[in-house]
Amino acid sequence: MDINVKELINTALEMRKKSYTPYSNFNVGAALLAENGTVYTGCNVENAGFTATNCAERTAFFKAVSEGVKDFKAIAIVGGPKDAAQLDYCPPCGVCRQVMSEFCRDDFQIIIARSETEYKIMTLPEIIPERFGPKDLLG
Ligand code: THU
Repeated sequence: MDINVKELINTALEMRKKSYTPYSNFNVGAALLAENGTVYTGCNVENAGFTATNCAERTAFFKAVSEGVKDFKAIAIVGGPKDAAQLDYCPPCGVCRQVMSEFCRDDFQIIIARSETEYKIMTLPEIIPERFGPKDLLG
């Protein structure tokens, strides 16, 4: 596999430190690897108007797409209470799964990690089966 999983997880862990979470104190970091080798990073950014909150994963996707990059290989996700000594797995929310569906093929790797060495890798059809996507509108 030409994906450096550990490096991607470490980048996500670093990003987690940048989360803006005054309301939930739940910090999430993401590192999105593009086909061209560039890693786009994201953290969650909360808002007093709760619905304006953006998840870490979507931050990373929107940064990439806004830079003209739309082909992706993998994303590493880490999250948990800000001061947690040990992280648990933080699976992506439904909205983020839908955003992944827009841009990613079935073999896109979703790395859900607790640490550099503890992680599980899932594919898009596993985490969002029967997904509604571009093919449903565009054929
Ligand atoms: N959050 C993410 O950033 N990614 C997810 O997939 C799950 C939830 C954030 C949103 C909010 O800032 C906090 O975690 C609690 O829901």
